[in-house]
Amino acid sequence: MDKMLVTSGASLNGSVEVSGAKNAALPILFSTLLAEGEHTFDNVPMLKDIESTAELLQSLGCESKRDGHTFRVHVTKLKTFEAHYDLVRKMRASILCLGPILAKYGEAVVSLPGGCAIGTRPIDLHLDAMKALGAEIELKDGYVLAKCKKLKGATVLFEKTTVGGTENLMMAATLAEGTTIIENAAKEPEIVDLAIYLNKMGAKITGHGTSVMRIEGVEKLTPARHSIMPDRIEAGTLMIAGAITKGDVLVQKCNPQDLEALINKMRESGFKIETTKDSVRVLPQDKWEAVDITTAPHPLFATDLQAQFMALMTVAHGTSVITETVFENRFMHVNELMRLGADITPKTQVAVVRGKPGGLSGAPVMATDLRASASLVLAGLVAKGETLVGRIYHLDRGYENLEGKLSSLGAKIKRVQ
Ligand code: EPZ
Repeated sequence: MDKMLVTSGASLNGSVEVSGAKNAALPILFSTLLAEGEHTFDNVPMLKDIESTAELLQSLGCESKRDGHTFRVHVTKLKTFEAHYDLVRKMRASILCLGPILAKYGEAVVSLPGGCAIGTRPIDLHLDAMKALGAEIELKDGYVLAKCKKLKGATVLFEKTTVGGTENLMMAATLAEGTTIIENAAKEPEIVDLAIYLNKMGAKITGHGTSVMRIEGVEKLTPARHSIMPDRIEAGTLMIAGAITKGDVLVQKCNPQDLEALINKMRESGFKIETTKDSVRVLPQDKWEAVDITTAPHPLFATDLQAQFMALMTVAHGTSVITETVFENRFMHVNELMRLGADITPKTQVAVVRGKPGGLSGAPVMATDLRASASLVLAGLVAKGETLVGRIYHLDRGYENLEGKLSSLGAKIKRVQ
């Protein structure tokens, strides 16, 4: 079982390039099920979750092959409409095959994903959306059985903003009869990237990136080519790595406007941040103030950056109140940060962080989920001595060669058995 050994002391300096966005690549790979033929994607990150998606597509009868960061998917008539539990339990995003298979083939059997460390993460909103398009949904033996000869466009109002729910509905609606209006649609940049690819395939989607999306159903979609957008969560993680080590880091091949909430909060905390159209530079800062954050759907502060920002606040001057409103249990990193000496009082949805500049010391810690692992690596960069992060398979799900990127900036970090 791999662990990550992080030794503190280095200020990170230099430039680093961001990989393609995991949370754009996953829905886009599932959208290939809507169109038979050869789909080609560039800038696809090398991640465990991409491999899991390829495995699931393979189990459905699709071929996929990787050539560096280019990834091809060849879709023919599926040999089965069933997404098996063994594959779905490894990656919750597998539920995103429901919309495409149902829309294209009129029936789908998808295992219920089950919960995960950060919350129960139900899929009720996904299923309500499919029902709104006319699907019959039955839950049986831990599987979703969905049937519908031909989906019909409808107006769907999501009572709660859901990224995956919006993505499943978008994909299903592209082949439905008539028009679908999605109200309270998620506005994440990854939703926009998915809509761009669907439209490249011949879909008729407008309003993506706003809370009202309009999708006019079409007869058929055809495969296309697309370059995956940069990963804004990796970019934010690398910015915080530079900031927490009082370094000077230029994060390239990213989209600063996807990072506005984080940039504003870091500036409020005292950091000087320079941006161009495709890069963000964090300048060296000796001390920074604690600031409060509240996570919420885009364009507000991303829940996927909460754990990483908390690491930065553990060594800020003052007290920061961190409120998590998206997931019900996304403070698993708190206990591990406290093992490094952080002074945090976690409550249900609020964590109070009393900053201790220079106050962390290295210790063995355990990753519990993807972004928590990143948070522990960031804290390890400044916790005196050595920090050994266990269960970093969580990290490998969502970060391509993070240790290589951090080492190239001068961090003392390596993977150990
Ligand atoms: C996506 O998850 C991302 N994953 C998550 O990133 C991200 O944290 C999340 O969006 C929020 O931005 C991918 O894109 C693959 P939601 P998703 O549906 O779609 C509740 C990472 O670290 N909900 O927007 O599952 C849900 O429980 C991952 O890369 C329902 O109640 O998130 C949560 O509390 C972690 N019923 C809230 O809504 C539903 O049917 C937001 O979930 C669906 C969701």
